[in-house]
Amino acid sequence: MTDRLPLRPVEQVLRLLGGHIISQAISTAVALGVFDRLAVEAMTADTLADQLDCRADMLKRLLTVIAGEGLLEQDFEDRFRTTNLGGELLSDRLGPLAAFMGSSFQWRPWSDLRRTVRTGESAFELAYGTDMYRWMETHPDDARQYDRSIDQFTTEQARALVEVHDFANVERVVDIGGGRGTMLIELLNRWPNLRATLFDVPHVVTSAKARFERAGLADRVEFVGGDFFDALPAGGDVYLVKHVLHNWDDPEAKRILVGCRDAMGDGGQLLIIEGILPPGAHNTTTRIMDLEMMVLFGRGRERTKLEFRRLLSAAGFRLDGYTAPLGHFARLLTARPR
Ligand SMILES: C[S@@+](CC[C@H](N)C(=O)[O-])C[C@H]1O[C@@H](n2cnc3c(N)ncnc32)[C@H](O)[C@@H]1O
Repeated sequence: MTDRLPLRPVEQVLRLLGGHIISQAISTAVALGVFDRLAVEAMTADTLADQLDCRADMLKRLLTVIAGEGLLEQDFEDRFRTTNLGGELLSDRLGPLAAFMGSSFQWRPWSDLRRTVRTGESAFELAYGTDMYRWMETHPDDARQYDRSIDQFTTEQARALVEVHDFANVERVVDIGGGRGTMLIELLNRWPNLRATLFDVPHVVTSAKARFERAGLADRVEFVGGDFFDALPAGGDVYLVKHVLHNWDDPEAKRILVGCRDAMGDGGQLLIIEGILPPGAHNTTTRIMDLEMMVLFGRGRERTKLEFRRLLSAAGFRLDGYTAPLGHFARLLTARPR
């Protein structure tokens, strides 16, 4: 890679335009199990094609493009092997996210980005006729893929959170839009005196409950199914809102936060885990996810520090501070009632 000549502008633009091809090639290789197999043993495309039930000639073309991105390496006997970089795409790393991003469920809406930018409508809703969370209520396969895709980095962020935030004096943490409870499971395991409330839409809470039972933690958790635009469960001293606000525009995000403010006492604390948009045109993960929020949710958006400060103030909170990235990119913002 280092002996390449600098690209001419036309080549740079063609490379950018091929971004979707690279992204889909990676996602497809993950979904086929390429990285997992080639991490265990180097193989030719023929051998791998037999194992994965693929056409060898086509698989080889796919593998060669991926090797060109440094995710696989090819030896003199034409065998491919997963590199350190490709190791990030194994099943216990970002593999589920990569498979999900290229699945037709997630891929289809992107062709409507131009309409979203013109009209503000969510491209997901244009493609499926309903919002993503409602869609998943009746499409369990898509919901399972979604769950797996966010679990890995939620686990990583949960592990980072227990290192930077002390829950020793917290009695009850309420996780608003807590999903499958990945974050709470980590917190409850780390702090044996902690109790928790998991709040999410009813079908998500029902499926999360079984996970807590399997982990032997269900008796420390109250499971509440509902709508976070209605009243939220009272009685927590910490309210956690992780990767929820970026699905919504300011008026809806404010309603969720006002709900937390109303449910907590004056001594409560709010913990928000979200990416923070950098100033200017730096394509950080959060900047790129901002477009994803637009496509999936229309009114969804990432926010700058100043935007978080204003949003929190409008909902009756004072932003105390924020941490360095937890795990991959998201930060912990802490706030208290004003
Ligand atoms: C991006 S996920 C975040 C899940 C979890 N906090 C995490 O970070 O792993 C957003 C969550 O909000 C939940 N949600 C969406 N709309 C909701 C609503 N109106 N009321 C309650 N929960 C909702 C979804 O079911 C989903 O679990």
